[in-house]
Amino acid sequence: MMRTRPLKVALLGCGVVGSEVARIMTTHADDLTQRIGAPVELAGVAVRRPSKVREGIDPALVTTDATALLKRGDIDIVIEVIGGIEPARTLITTAFEHGISVVSANKALLAQDGAALHAAAEQHGLDLYYEAAVAGAIPLVRPMRESLAGDKINRVMGIVNGTTNFILDKMDSTGAGYQEALDEATALGYAEADPTADVEGYDAAAKAAILAGIAFHTRVRLDDVYREGMTEVSAADFASAKRMGCTIKLLAILERAADGQSVTARVHPAMIPLSHPLASVREAYNAVFVEAEAAGRLMFYGPGAGGSPTASAVLGDLVAVCRNKLAEATGPGESAYTQLPVSPMGDVVTRYHISLDVADKPGVLAQVATTFAEHGVSIDTVRQQGRPDGVGNEASLVVVTHRAPDAALSGTVEALRKLDTVRGVASIMRVEGE
Ligand code: NDP
Ligand code: HSE
Repeated sequence: MMRTRPLKVALLGCGVVGSEVARIMTTHADDLTQRIGAPVELAGVAVRRPSKVREGIDPALVTTDATALLKRGDIDIVIEVIGGIEPARTLITTAFEHGISVVSANKALLAQDGAALHAAAEQHGLDLYYEAAVAGAIPLVRPMRESLAGDKINRVMGIVNGTTNFILDKMDSTGAGYQEALDEATALGYAEADPTADVEGYDAAAKAAILAGIAFHTRVRLDDVYREGMTEVSAADFASAKRMGCTIKLLAILERAADGQSVTARVHPAMIPLSHPLASVREAYNAVFVEAEAAGRLMFYGPGAGGSPTASAVLGDLVAVCRNKLAEATGPGESAYTQLPVSPMGDVVTRYHISLDVADKPGVLAQVATTFAEHGVSIDTVRQQGRPDGVGNEASLVVVTHRAPDAALSGTVEALRKLDTVRGVASIMRVEGE
């Protein structure tokens, strides 16, 4: 039976994502009605600048008073695409207090306050859906939360930020400069309102926290995630990576410890072999590997940012929440029953690529090798060559290690810096994906 009374939607935010959500809601209205079993109506649009011209949006729907919109009594579902912590947090909480389910794309808020928001949704018997918060258009949250609910996820590794992948890809493939590539990503609508969140790894760390919580059924907050951004990655790093048959990607890596008693969550740039599937992820695309005990390795791939791809994920959630509402049911809530501690980065086992500028004289190689041995770090390969810039009496030494705890690797680098024969550490990068 088709319900004729429409489900009323309040759209909070009408920028890159919100404007595309509104456009698809309008152009696909008939299909959405059929899929949901009731019409959905855009009943109000909250923004910051009411006088801005918004194509396809009836100006009568636009307001700057989002709170009044939520309190007016006829709203069934809220779509929050404002971003940031406040006022988004208060508005979502207000929506729950007024019996309104929420769809949000706000990873920063979910990574910081997800537990409280899930608790509020549960307390009021409402939905909180957030597929768009991680990896743009890619269905990832729901497959991990629902399709893999009967399996045991042990590892998640992937590219979860479109802006930084776009920048790194441009630097690698066209030799573009960092700022030029960032400006292009911003113009294409990929970057956050403050792109520092992208390039310093905060956005990827927020997504990592959300995914770790879902994967390991535990609470992982943004602060638990080890984070390094990509602003230090240089053309020289790409040249080094190329010589090793690698490229550089900003990765999010989440792992359950072998004894199952703890987890790790980290975001940092890493060299990966060109033969690895993540190496061929171009532009603002994202890709995530999920390793589950019974399923084996799954790969999720697709557009990771941008208005239209992200709106696709928001609309998928909207349909699900509308269906739940008509069925007087809710979807699955948070599953965080394990309370596993998040181990520090020092405990993570990884490999380093280290490029040193050293004195070109007898005994230097032995001294460097001894320093690695003293820290229990085994060397995989060493390559020495004269400095390309022709600096006299200096050589460049590139060491790639075997796997070792990160604390031992960073301890080795600190000790190397103190050697008289080491003139400088030109670059350090972790090596993943082998
Ligand atoms: P934009 O900056 O383009 O849009 C933000 C919108 O929120 C604007 O319409 C703005 O109004 C409105 N707004 C800001 N402050 C207020 C306020 N106090 N009250 C009411 N409205 C307000 O952001 P995006 O669309 O890019 O991102 C929105 C959310 O989606 C963020 O959480 C982001 O992380 C997430 N996201 C974004 C993706 C992307 O590719 N862009 C991908 C995945 C998720 P006005 O138009 O008047 O300025
Ligand atoms: N700024 C984000 C990115 C948007 O570039 O990945 C998608 O979450």
